[in-house]
Amino acid sequence: MTSRLFVLATITFWLAVISFAFTAWWLPAPAPVPLSATAARVLSLAEVARHASPDDCWMAIDSQVYDLSSYLPDHPADPAVILAWCGREASEAYRTKQKGRPHSVRADHLLDTYRIGALEAPRR
Ligand code: HEM
Repeated sequence: MTSRLFVLATITFWLAVISFAFTAWWLPAPAPVPLSATAARVLSLAEVARHASPDDCWMAIDSQVYDLSSYLPDHPADPAVILAWCGREASEAYRTKQKGRPHSVRADHLLDTYRIGALEAPRR
């Protein structure tokens, strides 16, 4: 009785494995994951400059482009401090907070979440 059960269980097991493998072979291969539009996007400084208002605010910081429109109301400093940099290359301002002190690591991580692309390399 026990050996019958064992044989039955073994057959069932291998049938399951074979049908699983067959299904995997038969189903179409999943489409390759496209590079996210964000990661692939290269934006010029001219494009960044077109987003220079409080409700549409992009900045270029360290060769990356960020859409900070939704973050502006949460920024802890006087709004004028950060608004002045909308539509511009703001690496130095970000690096120094215009006071010679860098932003925290937490701020760097936060900044990452607003990245929308890479800044086009300057033409020579
Ligand atoms: C590029 C122009 C910017 C300027 C001139 C600027 C300036 C400042 C100033 C003056 C303060 C408050 C005083 C202080 O903490 O010393 C501050 C704090 C802060 N800023 Fe900015 N900021 C800029 C952009 C940003 C961006 C793009 C982010 C993030 C998305 C950010 C995130 C923060 C955070 C989280 C703080 C709190 C303190 C810290 O964690 O460093 N700032 N910033």
